[in-house]
Amino acid sequence: MLQLLSASEQRSGEQIARALGCSRSAVWKQVQGLREQGVSVVAMAGQGYRLAEPFELLDKARIERYIPPAQRVHLNSLEVVAAADSTNAELQRRAIGEQHAVALLAECQTAGRGRHGRSWFSPLARNIYLSLGWRFETGVAELSALPLLLALAASEALRETGLGGHVIKWPNDLLLEGRKLGGCLVELQGDASGPCNAVLGIGLNVRMPAGTDGADAIDQPWIDVASRVRDVSRNRLAASLLATLVKHLVRFERQGFGVFLESWAEQDGLAGHEIRLAAPTGTIRGVARGISIRGGLMVAVEGELREMHAGEVSLRE
Ligand code: BTN
Repeated sequence: MLQLLSASEQRSGEQIARALGCSRSAVWKQVQGLREQGVSVVAMAGQGYRLAEPFELLDKARIERYIPPAQRVHLNSLEVVAAADSTNAELQRRAIGEQHAVALLAECQTAGRGRHGRSWFSPLARNIYLSLGWRFETGVAELSALPLLLALAASEALRETGLGGHVIKWPNDLLLEGRKLGGCLVELQGDASGPCNAVLGIGLNVRMPAGTDGADAIDQPWIDVASRVRDVSRNRLAASLLATLVKHLVRFERQGFGVFLESWAEQDGLAGHEIRLAAPTGTIRGVARGISIRGGLMVAVEGELREMHAGEVSLRE
């Protein structure tokens, strides 16, 4: 339905019913369904339906075209689906090892997953929900910096889209003006010594629907790309994300994480700040001092430098 409406100025109920092979009342139900998902559909008496604002739907062929050949060769498959429970969960159910590398984009997620067991707000046709399945010959033990690598790739793709001033909050939150722009979720399956399968998930707020401030949608201050970059294309941004991600992964496999430390330091949103880290072993307070080659957060606590690998950071006022 959204595809039909976004492809032309307006469509009559009859045209839509014919194209979808359903009744006029089923068309009306689908219109209601779109409205419930935050898509504003205008019904014009006797003329049919149109979208209140233009929608750019994700388009596999366009995304593939925008990815440079050097990175495209690493993608065994790229799939765009209308809905997934969670693109990460969907790739985890598949045997990635046999289809390395596989990319999955969804127009919406019904059970999008965030870090620390939270859910990820995933409205229809607004944002980017992307997962990449990648098989590593090394084991889980070598991949502790992977979540940070993902954030670096996403940050570079955002710069290519024309955004500036965003930073990364360890381990992989993307922030702009102190508000959340996107996040990453890495899920690993395999042995400590290898090989292992990684599902690398990125969610970016591109064009949030009006009314997202509703208390139950997102529980923290957020911002979207469209509020700072005019005419942002989700297809270009998705291609850019995939290209930078593949480029970074190939480099990481060849050279390790050390070559990314300088780039991290340039966009480290915590360095020099007083922080509070709620770690599984207890809460610590100190000053953030960059990261280690293993991707750990370095924190100066009462004159001692500690390397932390898990937990949730908040900036202290
Ligand atoms: C966070 O909490 O900051 C991480 C959010 C990660 C969201 C992305 S959207 C695509 C992929 N599929 C999911 O279910 N989660 C990740």
